[in-house]
Amino acid sequence: MYHRDVASKRSTRNAAMAPTAEFLCSPRVRSFNQNVNNVYDKGLVKITPSNCTLPVEFMEDAQKILDLEVKPDDVWVVTFPKSGTTWTQELVWLLMNGLNFDLAKRNHLTDRFPFLELSSLATGRKKPPTHFIDIVKNSRSPRLIKSHLPVELLPRQLWTVKPKIIYVTRNVKDVIVSYLNHHQLWVGCSLTADEFAECFMENIPKYTPFWDHVLAFWKLRNEPNVLVYSFEEMKADLSSVVHRVAAHLGRPVPEDQLPALLEHLSFQEMRSNRAVNFEEKVENARQDLGLRPAASEGLRFMRSGAVGDGQQRLSEDVRQKVDAWTDACLAGSGFDGLR
Ligand code: PPS
Repeated sequence: MYHRDVASKRSTRNAAMAPTAEFLCSPRVRSFNQNVNNVYDKGLVKITPSNCTLPVEFMEDAQKILDLEVKPDDVWVVTFPKSGTTWTQELVWLLMNGLNFDLAKRNHLTDRFPFLELSSLATGRKKPPTHFIDIVKNSRSPRLIKSHLPVELLPRQLWTVKPKIIYVTRNVKDVIVSYLNHHQLWVGCSLTADEFAECFMENIPKYTPFWDHVLAFWKLRNEPNVLVYSFEEMKADLSSVVHRVAAHLGRPVPEDQLPALLEHLSFQEMRSNRAVNFEEKVENARQDLGLRPAASEGLRFMRSGAVGDGQQRLSEDVRQKVDAWTDACLAGSGFDGLR
């Protein structure tokens, strides 16, 4: 178990509820770390409550996040990584800011829509200059907040104050392939798609286990303050999702502005929009790790934006394993897993 000061320093009031962590140390975890340039050299941990895998550095902030004050007019976008977060954040920001496309293009999304636990996950090297928990605390209301944390690790007041929450999910095989791209892009991952999928099913990449994450929010889908939809729905009919999100936020879109909004949110537009395509941030991260420029390896954050890549990129054998694992994880839940 994780026994550093972080756990023991907590006040008596919080002691019973303090999150604890257990280091992951199987041979596959060691090999995973080696294949991502040892960015997890301090260790990956499984956190209780939740079973969520995160770098041990997160434990410094776990309680701070649980205790964060939530405001009734906050808007929270929560997802498992690679499920349509950036797409949804850009939509939400525009709806909450009078469709100000110029301002959206001038300021990076991370500055407009802070990522709650980003600083808490910084491994080793450079720490961001300002802590994102403080940025969230000091944001002007209505605050817009992104998180990938599972239900159990999010601020407790979310469940009593009940601000608007939007949760987006995506086909698991497509998430796996997109998450592999994410690891190649940011940390030079050298695993194959099949190897990465095996690690994913063993809950090694950060934020896994995937199905626990999705199911917990799927169960909340009928709460009036929670809106759940999928990446696939965005692909199939973006206009309808825009209207659902607009209604959820009480920010209807004037019909004459809908075409401009859909255009701004199209894959081609977002791919070339430096305020959302992460090109500069990726290059900085790669330079820190001594990796070649992403373009020289044909890598980009806005990779294909498609449905069905998992079916193409994973072998038949691994696709069957993912299906069997999905069946076992979803058994009795009533959720079809978007297959
Ligand atoms: S992150 O890092 O977790 O915040 O990533 P996230 O934003 O959730 O997911 C990134 C994937 O979303 C795709 N994307 C889009 N697809 C279609 N249209 C638009 N406008 C769009 N914007 C982002 C992005 O390309 C990543 O998916 P893949 O499959 O890797 O291309």
